[in-house]
Amino acid sequence: TAVRPGGDVIDDLGLSPVALAVLSERYLLRDDSGSLRETPGQMMDRVAVAVAHAEDDYRPGASHGYAERFATVLRAREFLPNSPTLMNAGTSLGVLSGCYVLPIEDSLESIFDTLRTTALLHRAGAGTGFSFSRLRRRGSATSGGGVASGPVSFIELYDAASQVIRLGGRRRGANMAVLDVHHPDIEEFLRAKSDTGALPTFNLSVGVTDDFLHAAAQGRSHRLIDPATGRLVRELPARELFAQIAENAWRTGEPGLLFLDTVNRANPVPELGRLQATNPCGEVPLSAFESCTLGSVNLARFLDGDGLDEVRLAEVVRLGVRFLDDVLDVSVHPVPALAEAARATRKIGLGVMGVAEMLAALGLPYDSPAAVRYVSGLMARISRWAHAASRELAAERGPFPLYPHSRWVTSAPMRNAQVTSIAPTGTISLIAGTSAGIEPFYAIAYTRHVLGRDFDHFEPLLRERARAHGAWSPTLEAEISASGTVSDCAGLPESLRRSFVTAHEIDPRWHIRMQAAVQRHTDAAVAKTINLPATADVATMREVFRQAWQAGVKGITVYRDDTRPEQVLRCPESC
Ligand code: CDP
Repeated sequence: TAVRPGGDVIDDLGLSPVALAVLSERYLLRDDSGSLRETPGQMMDRVAVAVAHAEDDYRPGASHGYAERFATVLRAREFLPNSPTLMNAGTSLGVLSGCYVLPIEDSLESIFDTLRTTALLHRAGAGTGFSFSRLRRRGSATSGGGVASGPVSFIELYDAASQVIRLGGRRRGANMAVLDVHHPDIEEFLRAKSDTGALPTFNLSVGVTDDFLHAAAQGRSHRLIDPATGRLVRELPARELFAQIAENAWRTGEPGLLFLDTVNRANPVPELGRLQATNPCGEVPLSAFESCTLGSVNLARFLDGDGLDEVRLAEVVRLGVRFLDDVLDVSVHPVPALAEAARATRKIGLGVMGVAEMLAALGLPYDSPAAVRYVSGLMARISRWAHAASRELAAERGPFPLYPHSRWVTSAPMRNAQVTSIAPTGTISLIAGTSAGIEPFYAIAYTRHVLGRDFDHFEPLLRERARAHGAWSPTLEAEISASGTVSDCAGLPESLRRSFVTAHEIDPRWHIRMQAAVQRHTDAAVAKTINLPATADVATMREVFRQAWQAGVKGITVYRDDTRPEQVLRCPESC
């Protein structure tokens, strides 16, 4: 049985109250009468067995052993796949990938075909990203003799549909809209989320190019071109448009930037065309119809004395890559084009979570050269292990079909065109009980509003370390609970105050440095929020954008404190 006589879910994995609540309300299977059919541990077993099925196609009978190995790491929360895999594996909803990018061509057929696919994907809990850059500008002619309403009106249409679907779903599907900086409707796009609560299912990113950013830096002009005709519509100073982007981001946290040239320099399969969009939280640039199957290793689980147990970590990374490659085989996509695209490049996204917890445990302040160096070196090794695992799979199962046309062709065959990606891990880090992705601690004590309830969080590692220093007292706990941070806590040793630094106390430059260090060793992109204090001015925002571009990150999301009181973290369901 999955529930106690009193009715609450049986905790067979030692989870936190908030993790149990999220799992029982959204993830665990229920029977027709609505009663829970599984415990969290049984959910992990269901996922392990369903995914390991893929193994039998390569070596009959192999699934049993792999199901056990997968279940062990899932139950230990050393590695967790993205939410749709946890929710849907082994059920009739076969969508297991976290995110998709879908094409939007300049025709009503394409717009509504893709809207239909979007609906089917959101129903299963996956996110979708789109470039709206091909749509003709507002005010231009349509074939019916009418006037085009432009990309922003279609983003509104997609948003409305997503909101309706989200009401019935277990998880709220999220969207990303990218508009190229050369599109004539770009200024309307920048303001599309200015009103509080506008486009709640969308994140917006301006697709910026190196030519635009150079023009802004050098004071040159910038051309807006109608994608339908290729004609010049208007010219304006690039600097003025750049300032408008920064101004909107400063006011509302939107839009972010997607550095299109940086992204395309790393495009693993250029033959599929230029990459124009990412998934909702930005960590995976994809071609049209492609998807990404994400999974993250929980670094905090590998702490061992003054470092990490890297022998075990390497094993779990290797198993994680295999797990994700298996997920590709057992996934069912609602539209054939999605299945074909997934098969052609076999992109997966192995990433990490628990970076902040790991750094604090090792006594490395997030905003220090030592921390950036440590994370960079670690990510380089993880990437090496992950690539080696994909090569082993290629030797066993063959490379991805487009391998001969990929930039991997000069090295040994790979099973996956893209292996690593850093997801936000909004929900799975909650289930794992660690800090999200590569983000610093949000706060040491805070209240998380989720499922219509408030859950108090107090960073357990801080409590443990303070006790070990003999510095613990109820007064201290009350003091920290009131402020949320430990930086002014006279009762704690300086080393602890420094290593438990929180997001808003960290200078934006350190956020960017950490993102860039991780990006250097990541195939896809990195989900990261650059936090700015409420007092930061627009000039700082412009500077942050410039630094991010120069640092070589693929995209940037900023959040200035207090600009959106209702949105604490990026992916709303986990906040
Ligand atoms: O932790 P979890 O697996 O639930 O998701 P995440 O790592 O926070 O987000 C990974 C990706 O899932 C995002 O980039 C989105 O593409 C998608 N997502 C979504 O569609 N809807 C959400 N409410 C959250 C995430």
